[in-house]
Amino acid sequence: MAQRGPSRATAGDTLAFALHVALPTLGKGVLIRRRSVLALADRMDTDARAVRTLTRLRSTYGNRPLQLKLPGRPRVVILSPEDAMEVLDNTSTPFMAASDDKQSALAHFEPGVSLASRGAERCDRRSFNEQVLASEEVSHPCAAAFETIIDDELGPLLLPPDGQLDWDTFSEAWFRVVRRVVLGEGARDDKTLTRQLAGLRKAANWAFLRPRRKRLLKAFYARLDTHLERAEPGSLASRVAASASPGDAPAHQVAHWLFAYDPAGMAVFRTLALLCADPEAYERARKERATENLGFMRACMMESLRLWPTTPAILRQTSENADLNGCAIAKGSGVIIFAPFFHRGPSAGDIAHRFTPDIWQDGQTVDQRGVFPFSAGPARCPARHLVLMTSAMALRRLIEQQWREESGAIPAGGDIPATLSPYRLIFQLR
Ligand code: HEM
Repeated sequence: MAQRGPSRATAGDTLAFALHVALPTLGKGVLIRRRSVLALADRMDTDARAVRTLTRLRSTYGNRPLQLKLPGRPRVVILSPEDAMEVLDNTSTPFMAASDDKQSALAHFEPGVSLASRGAERCDRRSFNEQVLASEEVSHPCAAAFETIIDDELGPLLLPPDGQLDWDTFSEAWFRVVRRVVLGEGARDDKTLTRQLAGLRKAANWAFLRPRRKRLLKAFYARLDTHLERAEPGSLASRVAASASPGDAPAHQVAHWLFAYDPAGMAVFRTLALLCADPEAYERARKERATENLGFMRACMMESLRLWPTTPAILRQTSENADLNGCAIAKGSGVIIFAPFFHRGPSAGDIAHRFTPDIWQDGQTVDQRGVFPFSAGPARCPARHLVLMTSAMALRRLIEQQWREESGAIPAGGDIPATLSPYRLIFQLR
């Protein structure tokens, strides 16, 4: 039975957390990245500062969960990989994924998504996601169709008139891939749908501080429904039609997929930059192109997500009084797991700032270090295999050419920066 509560941060240390961890994370945009803030964060390497701040707090207070000195509901920061694992393993009781904060942000564009749902509804919606996204299968049943889409859409990027590939060009093509994978050929050129979703995500960045854009929400779902009605074979929409049951709020899950494929594109672009900075790895990836499983490219993508997690803050809220490895956490507490601290901090050890794709292939137990870019436990990303499969297919296509990264964002052989804006990356044909 837990006796002691969390360690208590002083007002000064709470301020340090707010300034160096919370503010930059919120500023960059949790649901859609703000380009100008990300550029500034990149220049200041704000994630490195965040990791240093949490490292200092851990040496001051020890490994126990740390309660911040804030008004309102208690907010507890997790400081050990064991506690992080325990929290994630015990989703949803007592550590609910659908925290009040998350619900208020996601209500702007996908109130019925599984991550914002509780109780029986959550179970229904989670299992719907697992079915359509084929959570347990390394190769998705639509793999062949997705490969054709990716080859089609990324092919033209390989022969740029000026020899360059930048984020704007890549992301246009990437979103065509996403619309076709999720909704089929008929959605290929529906940029309006992507723009509407971006508008809603911008509002969601402000959570309860901004009123909901109800008209835009209605217009977005009306448009999405017309695409879903087609249930095009070879798209996720065809599997939606085959799996939906009344409690699933299917369109809200689909909105999440369209949204979550945006950071996946950023991770692909960063992975290409990692390969450019490591010619040996580039060559290994090129040699792998003819093979079926693309294990090395998947591992490179995992490394990119370890080095720059696209979901930096994993949030939970206790549904009842909880015992976390002997520490009593009061009912209603917000629980914060800041992924970069575990991916890049002392528990990561010597791999922290290096590109080490082999850790994902040779059975090292990265989980024990608190490294889980797709989360862990019952709310673990149900699209993890699908994301790795489609990202590896995209990389396979991109590295048909020999690229050089022009901005010098990743120093060859040196420490890899903790913050990397994909917007600054420019690839030049060699
Ligand atoms: C770089 C790509 C992605 C990463 C790193 C990622 C990571 C994550 C993480 C960390 C969570 C769990 C959050 C938590 O524990 O609170 C999550 C949840 C989820 N992800 Fe992903 N994700 C990615 C892309 C996608 C894509 C493309 C889809 C759909 C096609 C997707 C579908 C979902 C869903 C439905 C959930 C909610 C699961 C639940 O409610 O239990 N994700 N993802």
